[in-house]
Amino acid sequence: MLLTPDEKTRPADMAGLFELAPAKINLALHVVGRRPDGYHLLESIVSFAEHGDRLRFAAAEQDAFTLSGRFAGSLQSDDASSNLVLRARDALRSALQQAGIVAPPVAIHLEKNLPVASGLGGGSADAAATLRGLLRLWQADIPPADLDRLALSLGADVPMCLRQEPLMVRGIGEDMTRISDFPALALVLGNPMVPVSTPEIFRRLKRRDNPPIGQRTETDWLGFLATLRNDLEPPARSLVARIGELSDLLSAEGALLTRMTGSGASCFGVFASMGDANRVADRLRHVRPDWYFQATRTAGSELK
Ligand code: C5P
Repeated sequence: MLLTPDEKTRPADMAGLFELAPAKINLALHVVGRRPDGYHLLESIVSFAEHGDRLRFAAAEQDAFTLSGRFAGSLQSDDASSNLVLRARDALRSALQQAGIVAPPVAIHLEKNLPVASGLGGGSADAAATLRGLLRLWQADIPPADLDRLALSLGADVPMCLRQEPLMVRGIGEDMTRISDFPALALVLGNPMVPVSTPEIFRRLKRRDNPPIGQRTETDWLGFLATLRNDLEPPARSLVARIGELSDLLSAEGALLTRMTGSGASCFGVFASMGDANRVADRLRHVRPDWYFQATRTAGSELK
């Protein structure tokens, strides 16, 4: 098969089975306690963007893993202990094999479009997409509770990334409730290209018993979100000064709400329309060409 130059640079577009690994956005993230094992108890309102990494899965003679995309260089392709795609493949294969299900070799291609260690859940989204994609490729099924358990063993954010829908998340990520009336939002995602270590941000927290999210008091979601917080934002700002700069850039462009997502350093701005979001992302790419800016829409019932 002859490939056009564009297809050669985007192998995830070639034949096979595809999964999108959407960016995870913590629209609010409250740290409300701590478990005896050191993990933090959270309350978070989470949604997923249309933009994300792309994965391709194809049957192969032997297992293979290849990478492309703007942020491919930040990942090591052959290190099974740190690469969540390979860990997800291996964990699912062994779970299926224990149940007597065949899980033959597979070639996986990851187009890494999301910045790494950035609070957008890219690694967790890739792991979740790998579980979804391989279950389709291998035409296998495992009980949802077992799949959630397997996902949680890969990382606290992996079960929510399996769902890809607006969620209220509690515990460390295992207690998820779908938010059926959550609106789609027009966002600009930004990252100042400083990787952030999640454990380091949790370690720097001054309080671990902050007020919970509680019941929605405002009638509109955006008004309610504005009353909430990301409790990881103050410690992250104290470590990475560029988070404040990024947040100010988004606010100066007229964002209706600006906040950090996850443990940072990515921030999002909510805009009135996708037209506004696209214009702002274009402008900010000129202001800081070395940073990451992406306009995207989140999953939800209507575009606000
Ligand atoms: O689960 P994951 O590998 O994403 O978490 C990375 C690290 O972040 C954990 O090892 C832990 O130190 C910290 N963490 C935490 N509480 C959470 C999630 C993560 O303390 N709810």
